[in-house]
Amino acid sequence: MSAPFLEVVDVFKSYFLNGKRIDVLRGVSVQIQQGELVSLIGASGSGKSTFLHVVGTLDLPATGKMFFRGKSVFDMNDGEVAEFRNRSIGFVFQSHYLLPEFTAAENVAMPALIARHDPKPTMKRARELLERVGLAERSDHKPGELSGGESQRVALARALMLKPDLLLADEPTGNLDPSTGEGIHALLREVNRDLGVTAVVVTHNELLAKSMPRRLRLKEGAVVNADD
Ligand SMILES: Nc1ncnc2c1ncn2[C@@H]1O[C@H](COP(=O)(O)OP(=O)(O)OP(=O)(O)O)[C@@H](O)[C@H]1O
Ligand SMILES: [Mg+2]
Repeated sequence: MSAPFLEVVDVFKSYFLNGKRIDVLRGVSVQIQQGELVSLIGASGSGKSTFLHVVGTLDLPATGKMFFRGKSVFDMNDGEVAEFRNRSIGFVFQSHYLLPEFTAAENVAMPALIARHDPKPTMKRARELLERVGLAERSDHKPGELSGGESQRVALARALMLKPDLLLADEPTGNLDPSTGEGIHALLREVNRDLGVTAVVVTHNELLAKSMPRRLRLKEGAVVNADD
């Protein structure tokens, strides 16, 4: 049998601030299979962002293991971790973090331009991705000339630029009105279905969470099945 796509094993993570210790992740174990679309809910402060940051290697756990396609991620050297993060992970955050001085198409292209990909095909792909998220007409708009929902769709297109294996979305609809938020979730479902991108989506909206095929909850420092 082949190794699971992503396997998180007994991850612990605490923060230390002003001599106080906050135990956030207290033995998180979860397996995610290739192609899954998973929602992650949980109270504010329960550790959802911390969990996504650890999985995306933006932050290190205290203890625990993580295997991506059987390879132990926390045992990789710095270069290997950076490559894993850049090649395999796409992030969408609650704030879009688009660069204000660049157009939508340039923002989408940015990860590939930074990776020194050939600019011409890169810009072509950026425009195709904008078309996929329904923004072909807004390619030359700068972030200040886009609505909140449009900006978040640009951020999603940017996250897809380098064809990630795993998309990690941290409340991508947190700043949007419910119907625009549902549009982003529909888009995530479409991207998951059509491009086969595995995705974990943190949301505070239980209704939107329910629209995902698998639902997880962060509770008391552990990841549990949200339906239990
Ligand atoms: N850098 C930090 N230093 C100290 N404590 C932190 C730090 N980052 C997060 N925390 C604390 O860790 C806990 C988990 O934070 P986290 O951001 O993971 O929660 P969350 O589930 O994403 O919450 P929300 O739904 O509000 O985004 C919180 O109690 C928070 O105050
Ligand atoms: Mg959070």
